[in-house]
This record gives sequence, structure tokens and C-alpha cells, in this order.
Amino acid sequence: MASNTLSQLVVASLILSIATVSCSRRAGVEPIATLEQIMETTVEPVSDRVFDAAVWENGVQVGGPKSDDDWKLVQANAMMLAETCNLLLMPGRAKDEGGWPIRTQAMKDAALEAAKAAELKNTEAILTAGTHIYQACLGCHLQYIPQTVAPPAKR
Ligand code: HEC
Repeated sequence: MASNTLSQLVVASLILSIATVSCSRRAGVEPIATLEQIMETTVEPVSDRVFDAAVWENGVQVGGPKSDDDWKLVQANAMMLAETCNLLLMPGRAKDEGGWPIRTQAMKDAALEAAKAAELKNTEAILTAGTHIYQACLGCHLQYIPQTVAPPAKR
């Protein structure tokens, strides 16, 4: 009886460990989209939402968040920009362990700065953070895309 219970336990723990292995394989983190796809579908559109929060034409602000919900959306887009930094840093996607994480961190810092500005509904601070984001885009492109001279975003 006792040894039966023991063998049942062994079998049970064996099943458990197999389940754990296949589970961790299923939950594995791996790059799926190309860098170009991430830039075009996520980095560029969400950063545009932040840039658009502070645009002036002839001294008059155009567009820009007005309601609380507008500001919340700007904040969410800034947070998503910061989140994409995790995607850029994934093993298999990061281009190196030197400049790449530094460039990515610069974008994350600037995106979090924008998120804070949106939380405070501060247009001046959004403008400053937007400039920092733009510098982070350009800095990485200059380093990693050959022949980059033109700005990546309209600004
Ligand atoms: C950590 C580095 C890095 C940062 C930061 C970065 N990019 Fe990129 N980006 C790249 C690389 C590398 C490519 C080239 C991808 C390719 O074509 O393989 C690229 C390509 C692009 C493209 C062109 C896609 C195409 O080929 O048509 C756009 C648009 C773009 N980035 C926008 C942005 C914007 C906007 C930001 C800032 C909000 C930004 N990127 C920040 C590395 C970066």
C-alpha cells in the first residue's frame, strides 16, 4: 500500500514535470515580427500620437488633447512606446549588447517622460518629451541604418 502510494507520487511528479516543460516551451518568448514591422505598426503610430499632442501652426496650437480621455489616450500611447522597448531588447532582435540597449533605454526614458507629462496634462512638458523621443529615434537610426540622414518622423 505504502509503496503503491509512493509510485503514484513518482508518476504524478513525472507528469507534473513534463507538463511544466511543455508549458514553459509554449509560453516561450521569441521574436515574431521583423524590426521594420514593429517600427511601422507600433513605434511610429504611437509616437505620432505623442508628437501630435503638441503642434502649433502660426502660434496657435492645433489638435492636441482636450478632454481627460484625450490625455489618457496620449498617456497610453506613450506607455506603449515605452513597452515596445521590451520588444526591441528581446534576444534575437537586439542588434548588439552595446549601443542597442543604450539607444533603446533613451527611447524608454523619453516615452516615460511623455507619459508623465500626459498624466499632468502639461502641453509644454509633452513638447519637451516629444523632442527627446525624436532625438532617441534619430540617434538609433543614425547608428544602425546605413545612410540615414533624413528624420524618421515629420517633426
Ligand atoms: C533602438 C533602435 C531604434 C529606435 C530607438 C528607433 N528605431 Fe526605427 N528603426 C530602427 C532600425 C534598425 C530600422 C531599420 C529596420 C529595417 O528595415 O530592418 C528602423 C526603421 C524605422 C522605420 C522605417 C521602416 C521601413 O523600413 O520602412 C520607421 C518609420 C521608424 N524606424 C520609425 C521610428 C520612430 C518614429 C522611432 C522613435 C519614436 C524609432 N523608429 C526609434 C531602429 C530604431
